[in-house]
Amino acid sequence: MSSVVRLLALLLMCYGLYEVQSAKILALLNLALPSHYIFNRALLIELAGRGHQVTVISPDREKLPVPNLHSIQLEGIYNTIEKNVNYESFAEMSLWDFTFAMFDWGTDLCKRELQTEGARKLLNYPSTERFDLIITEIAWGECFFAFIHKFGSPPVIATSGVGIPPWISLTMRNPENPSYMPNFMLPFSSHMTFRERMLNFIIHNFVTLIYEYRYIRAEEAIARKYFKDFPPFWDIERNFSIVLVNTVPGVDDPRPLLPNVIPVGGMHIKDVPSPLPKDLQTYLDEAKEGFIFFSLGSNLRSDSLSYEKMQALLEAFSELPQRILWKFESDNLPGQPPNVRTGKWLPQSDILAHPNIRVFISHCGKMSSIEASYRGVPVVGIPFFLDQRLNLRDLVNKGVGVELDYKSITKENILAALREVLNNDSYRINMKKRSATFKDQPQTALDRAVFWTEYVIRHNGAPHLRSAATDLYWHQYLLLDVLLVLAVGTLLLTMAACFLVRTIYRTIINLTNKSNKKTKTN
Ligand SMILES: *[C@@H]1O[C@H](CO)[C@@H](O)[C@H](O)[C@H]1NC(C)=O
Ligand SMILES: *[C@@H]1O[C@H](CO)[C@@H](O)[C@H](O)[C@H]1NC(C)=O
Repeated sequence: MSSVVRLLALLLMCYGLYEVQSAKILALLNLALPSHYIFNRALLIELAGRGHQVTVISPDREKLPVPNLHSIQLEGIYNTIEKNVNYESFAEMSLWDFTFAMFDWGTDLCKRELQTEGARKLLNYPSTERFDLIITEIAWGECFFAFIHKFGSPPVIATSGVGIPPWISLTMRNPENPSYMPNFMLPFSSHMTFRERMLNFIIHNFVTLIYEYRYIRAEEAIARKYFKDFPPFWDIERNFSIVLVNTVPGVDDPRPLLPNVIPVGGMHIKDVPSPLPKDLQTYLDEAKEGFIFFSLGSNLRSDSLSYEKMQALLEAFSELPQRILWKFESDNLPGQPPNVRTGKWLPQSDILAHPNIRVFISHCGKMSSIEASYRGVPVVGIPFFLDQRLNLRDLVNKGVGVELDYKSITKENILAALREVLNNDSYRINMKKRSATFKDQPQTALDRAVFWTEYVIRHNGAPHLRSAATDLYWHQYLLLDVLLVLAVGTLLLTMAACFLVRTIYRTIINLTNKSNKKTKTN
C-alpha cells in the first residue's frame, strides 16, 4: 500500500518537475574545435541532468550515452580538417593574411559540414518541429543560423569560447573601446602605447568590417544552397537573447558588459577533479621533484613539430630532474628521454590539479589559460595564433608566466624559461593569488550559465535585456552622422563668418579709399 502511495507521489512529483522545467533545447555546436565542445558541453550535460531534452549537432560526439541528450554527429569533419589545414602555418602569417585565413577557415568548415549525413538528418526534420531554445556558439559556423529560422525562430542563447571577439561587440552592441581593450588577435595589454592603440584601432575596425560585409554574407550564401528562405543573419544575430562569454571578472582585465553578456569563464572546470587513470596517478604521485605538463591543445599536433624543435625540447627535458608529461599524438617519440612520458589524450584540467605539478607548458589557448589560472599553475607559453598571444601577454604581465618564442626555440632558451619559473617562487605565488580571486565568486560559472539559460526559457526570450543600440546602424551607433552634421555645420559657419569678415573689410577699405580720394581732390 505504502509503496503504491510512494510511487504515486513520485509520479506526481515527476509530472510537476516535467511541466515546470523540461524544455526542448537544440544546440548548434558546429564549430570544429574540441576545446570549445568541452566548454559548451558542460552546460548541455548540466541542462540534460536537470531534465531538459537536449539535441546537439556537432563534429564532436559523446563517447558514452547521456540521459536526455541526443547527439547528432557531423561525421568526418576532423579528418578533412587534418588533411586540409596546417595550423602551424597560421603562426607564420601576417595579421592581414591571417584575418582572411581565419574567416576562410570558417566558411570552408561550414560548407563541409552542411554536406554531411549528420547535417542532412537535421535538415530532414520537419519545419513544424519546435524547440523552446536554441544554443549556438557564435564563431566560424554561422551558416547553421538558418536552422534557427527553420525551427520557427525560438529564443537563442549564444556562447563564445574565445572571450569577447569583435563580432560579439558588434552584434550585441557591447561597448568595445580600442583605446584600452586589445583586439583578441593582438598581443597587447590594457595599457597601450600610441602605436599600439593605433594598430588596435585599425585591426578592430578591419576585423569588424570584414565580418559584417564579407564573411557573414559568405556564410549566408552557403546556407542558401540548403535552406529556402531565412532573414539576413545580421537580424538573427542581433536578436540573440543573451550571450555566455568565456571571461572571468577579476582575472581578465575589467571591461563593461551589457546585462545580456554573461561572463561564465571556466564553466567547464569541475572544482573537484575527476580521478586520473591509475598508472598515470602513480606516475605523477611518484614524481619526487614534481612534474611539468606539456600540451599544445587539441588542434595543434605536437608530433608535427619540426625535427630540430623536437630535438631541442627533448634535450632540454633530459637535463631536468622533473618528470615531463607530454600530450603527444603518435605512438613513438624518437629519442625519448627516461623522464618523459607521453599520452595521446590526457585529462588536462585534472592533471593541472595534481599537487606535484610545477609548470604547464602551453600554447595558451583560452581554455588552457583559464584552466591554468583556476588550478593555480604557472605557465611557460608557446603561442601560435588567434588569441594565444594575447592570453600569454596577460599571463606575463600578471607575473604568472613567461614566453617562449616558437620560431626561435633552442635547448638553451627552453631551459632558461623553465628554470625561471621553476626556481623563482614569485610565479607560483602570483598564480595562487589569481586562482583565489578566480574562485571567489557568488556562484559558480556553471550555475550562472544554467540560471540565465533557464531565465531565457522561463520568459520565452529576453528582449527586455537587449540594448537599444542593436536597432541602430553602425554610423548612428558611433554618432558618425551627428559628427558629420556638426563638422559640416561648423565648416559652413566658419565660411559664412569668413565671408562676412571679408565683406566688412572690403566695405571699410572702399569707404576709406573713397574718403581718401575725396581728401586728395579737395
Ligand atoms: C527574434 O526572436 C523572437 C523570439 O525571441 C522571434 O519571435 C522573432 O521572430 C525573432 N526575429 C528574427 C528576425 O529572428
Ligand atoms: C622573480 O621574478 C620576478 C618577476 O619576473 C622578478 O621581479 C624577481 O626579481 C625575480 N626574483 C629573482 C630572485 O630572480
